[in-house]
Amino acid sequence: MRVLVTGGAGYIGSHTVVSLIEAGHEPVVVDNLSNALRSVLARIAEVAGVTPEFHQVDVRDREAMAGIASSGIDACIHFAALKAVDESIRKPLEYYDNNVRGTIDLLAVLSAAGVRNLVFSSSATVYGDPTELPLREEMPTGRATNPYGWTKIMMEQVLTDLQAAEPEWSITMLRYFNPVGAHPSGLLGEDPRGIPNNLMPYVTRVAAGILPRLRVFGGDYPTRDGTGVRDFVHVQDVAEGHVAALERLSGEPGLHVYNLGTGRGHTVLEVVKTFEEATGKPVPYEIVGRRPGDVAESWADVSKAERELGWRATRDLATMCVDAWRWQENVR
Ligand code: NAD
Ligand code: WQD
Repeated sequence: MRVLVTGGAGYIGSHTVVSLIEAGHEPVVVDNLSNALRSVLARIAEVAGVTPEFHQVDVRDREAMAGIASSGIDACIHFAALKAVDESIRKPLEYYDNNVRGTIDLLAVLSAAGVRNLVFSSSATVYGDPTELPLREEMPTGRATNPYGWTKIMMEQVLTDLQAAEPEWSITMLRYFNPVGAHPSGLLGEDPRGIPNNLMPYVTRVAAGILPRLRVFGGDYPTRDGTGVRDFVHVQDVAEGHVAALERLSGEPGLHVYNLGTGRGHTVLEVVKTFEEATGKPVPYEIVGRRPGDVAESWADVSKAERELGWRATRDLATMCVDAWRWQENVR
């Protein structure tokens, strides 16, 4: 399949582009490079042996996107979005414009070009504060605690309404839990600017001596050791989940929703311990107050994806840590 990949130079997008090439597909990458480097394309080529077609275009540029969409595209995977929770609180309009308007612009262009196969990057954040675990796809989506989360809930609603109005669309919403890790080559990974918000990039920077110690947000949650629990999932598993969804569902009209996680939760301190054991690098930490907006626990029921997509995550937490660390050493 010739697959338009918006945000394909980003963290999850670049890994998915590699998985698409490895599965024999032809990715067409669109990225405005607002949160990625052009050099990612050469790295993808080094890993996958093929340089993907690339367009430095914003998904809100309908004219440029129309030209690309009419170039024989079979399906689209839509990653392009802004994703920093704290920034979204400071710049809500930028987030709604980029994420919600960007998605609407993309859908209009795809529709006009007759492309009605879409895989969308959603997030476990749409479940809000869980009342029951594990999280299942049919549970109601919750209230977001920040504009970024609201953009995902809104985009899911837009996609749901579109599919109801135009039932020939195949729309798959993949709700990722906590993607971490990096490509085992050490060539692709996540390199957030400034001080990272997310746990794993923070941990690797502490291990590298770039930051003095991890601040563990909250030691008094009702969990096994008092720290937050998340379903960490290797970014390569997430990437492969997209290929599975695309191959199973494009051309199958309907609205399809799947969790992408491992089905297992780990506490923040378990991540620290596993990282130290797997890499031999100490991660000094201190327990501080809870971070506003955090939920105590979140992990996925992954049985639907296993059953219907034939996909399940195969890489464990130690592998996520080792791969994240290899990448950290490479970008230093
Ligand atoms: P990322 O920032 O690395 O990738 C997003 C890419 O989209 C970047 O390369 C950026 O330059 C590009 N982009 C942003 N706005 C664009 C626009 N208007 N036009 C064209 N390109 C644009 O982020 P990621 O972690 O790879 O996330 C990919 C998707 O997955 C996002 O939609 C994100 O919300 C979602 N998601 C991520 C996580 C996570 O923890 N990383 C979890 C759940 C969902
Ligand atoms: C994980 C755990 C923190 C940093 C976020 C977004 C979510 C999704 C994935 C896109 C929590 C703790 C973290 C630190 C810490 N993104 N932590 N010290 O919050 O589950 O999800 O990324 O859709 O929308 O909200 O991930 O990695 O930030 O935190 O103790 O320096 O690690 O409190 O328990 P989160 P995270």
